[in-house]
Amino acid sequence: MSKLLLFVVLLGTTHSSPLEADPCTVSTYSAIAAAAKSCNTLTLKDIVIPAKTTLFIELKDGAKLIFDGHVTHKIAEWTGDLIRITGKNVQISGTANHLLDGLGPKHWKGANEQKILRPKFLRLQLKDSTVKNLKLKNCPCNCVMIQSSNTVISHINIDNYDGYPGVAGAKYAKNTDGFDVGRSTNLRVENSVVVNQDDCVAVNSGNNIIFDNLHCNGSHGLSFSLKDSDVYDVQFLNSKVTNSNNAIHIKTNNAGGSGRLRNILYKNIQFLGIDRYAVSIQQNYPRGDAKANIPITNLTLENVSGKMTGSKSMALQIICAHGGCKDWNFKNVKVNGAKQKNTCQEVPSGIKC
Ligand SMILES: *[C@@H]1O[C@H](CO)[C@@H](O)[C@H](O)[C@H]1NC(C)=O
Ligand SMILES: *[C@@H]1O[C@H](CO)[C@@H](O)[C@H](O)[C@H]1NC(C)=O
Ligand SMILES: *[C@@H]1O[C@H](CO)[C@@H](O)[C@H](O)[C@H]1NC(C)=O
Repeated sequence: MSKLLLFVVLLGTTHSSPLEADPCTVSTYSAIAAAAKSCNTLTLKDIVIPAKTTLFIELKDGAKLIFDGHVTHKIAEWTGDLIRITGKNVQISGTANHLLDGLGPKHWKGANEQKILRPKFLRLQLKDSTVKNLKLKNCPCNCVMIQSSNTVISHINIDNYDGYPGVAGAKYAKNTDGFDVGRSTNLRVENSVVVNQDDCVAVNSGNNIIFDNLHCNGSHGLSFSLKDSDVYDVQFLNSKVTNSNNAIHIKTNNAGGSGRLRNILYKNIQFLGIDRYAVSIQQNYPRGDAKANIPITNLTLENVSGKMTGSKSMALQIICAHGGCKDWNFKNVKVNGAKQKNTCQEVPSGIKC
């Protein structure tokens, strides 16, 4: 009898607790848009995003957004974003108990991935903002898409460990880029860990971008991928790449439009267990003849070193078009354990290949 009474009393207190009453702590998907319009501090707790729906959060200027609990979604085959956040002068973070769970194992299809549509996870369209302490697990496809300016993104943990072929079996993960960066300027991404199955970072467009202290595991490396954009003043600093296809990968699309890639620095990069290319720079992406539609100029690699593994390992693959690559500087680039001879095409003067 007294136990039952206690139960009823507890239920009563839970319902009338101040937390539940706080209109800026939201657990219901349909209440989020209105709360974002009025709240200066918005906490999203245990959200389930409906199928084929983007959780679009338009923050007020100067607002704080806090993720708490388990944020997840109903499974469907589609290619939209699961979460998209816009804001100016905002601060986004997660509590110690939050997890953005992409439910990857329910989306991944391994070798059959091309027949399956999968959503992208988190898109950040911010100005003058900070994002820190976010945990993402098992991205269905691309993890964090950044289109932001004057913004610092730090302490992001992307854990797609469950997507490795050795863990997931036949339904392993593909195309799970860690950070995809486009149309961003004055951006820093730092102190973050990415465990995934595609590029750890891929810069597509933007300028004045610094990546500092990243740890990448299982990825395709620290990459640029340009189709028709002008990308300049980008630095990768003090970072580690392990168990990866490539450590450094620069690719320009030979079927793309015109663009440029210039003033690029990779400094203090350590790698281990790279099984294809320690450094791959190709103006013939995805394949075929190299073209100079996107010249690569003023590229510096400084203190880049590590060990390769496996029979396909090659220290340098440089595939430039005639006149497409200029003013490169490699200082203290040391690769151990490569089994294949380098590929060297139209290598700029001064570079030993
Ligand atoms: C890094 O990747 C390897 C396999 O590629 C795996 O064995 C190891 O556990 C991974 N480390 C982390 C922290 O996920
Ligand atoms: C070349 O790039 C570096 C960054 O790596 C930059 O500091 C320097 O100013 C650039 N040089 C020119 C001539 O633009
Ligand atoms: C080279 O880079 C590694 C890894 O980031 C760092 O630990 C080391 O201090 C750097 N060496 C120099 C001479 O800067």
